[in-house]
Amino acid sequence: MQKKGYFITFEGIDGCGKTTQLENAYKMLTEQGIECVKTREPGSLEIGSKIREILLNYNGEVSDNCEMFLFLADRSQHIDTYIKPKLKEGIVVLCDRHTDSTLAYQGYGRQRDVEQLKELNKIATNNIIPDLTILIDINVEEGQKRAGKNPDRLEKSGKEFFERTREGYIALAKQYPERIKIVNGEKSKESVYNDVKSLIMELLKL
Ligand SMILES: Nc1ncnc2c1ncn2[C@@H]1O[C@H](COP(=O)(O)OP(=O)(O)O)[C@@H](O)[C@H]1O
Ligand SMILES: [Mg+2]
Repeated sequence: MQKKGYFITFEGIDGCGKTTQLENAYKMLTEQGIECVKTREPGSLEIGSKIREILLNYNGEVSDNCEMFLFLADRSQHIDTYIKPKLKEGIVVLCDRHTDSTLAYQGYGRQRDVEQLKELNKIATNNIIPDLTILIDINVEEGQKRAGKNPDRLEKSGKEFFERTREGYIALAKQYPERIKIVNGEKSKESVYNDVKSLIMELLKL
């Protein structure tokens, strides 16, 4: 029988605890002797790091479409040249942000057509869908505080934008209840990790 890796994504607004919990999951799986890798979007590959640089550091104007296609271009390369081969080898792939970030931020946050973005995601991913998406939910103020963001940022990007993004994630979890599981990110790190661990153990039948 062909070994099959599991594809697990971590989602949620800035500061919710994605990176913290992904590291915990990686450590736990590695200690159990399960082969796994950690990766992120955008910008895990060399081409991606260049794209990430534009998205995060470019000071000029980036149009909404340009932003969207850059994220999708990065994802496409990431899936084809990294994630897919790992899954084929039976390796568990832990990914910090993926398709649902596009839907939550560009779709719900920037109020683009979510259904159209779903179709574009399908092209970018070659229809590879995560086996499990852990959505860490946290209120916007707490997330920004934890992420060390200047409070002005909330004003600048519009608090409504971040609220819509958070609500968008929750809407997605309702649309895909089998795949997206919500974890309350406002609890302690240990407590959040217990929930994360249970979800992963259940998926991997450990
Ligand atoms: N449950 C938690 N309670 C308090 N602080 C947390 C919790 N989870 C993460 N943090 C802290 O909040 C900050 C942001 O966490 P991080 O994992 O980097 O979030 P993200 O990757 O989602 O932006 C880090 O300093 C981290 O140590
Ligand atoms: Mg992070």
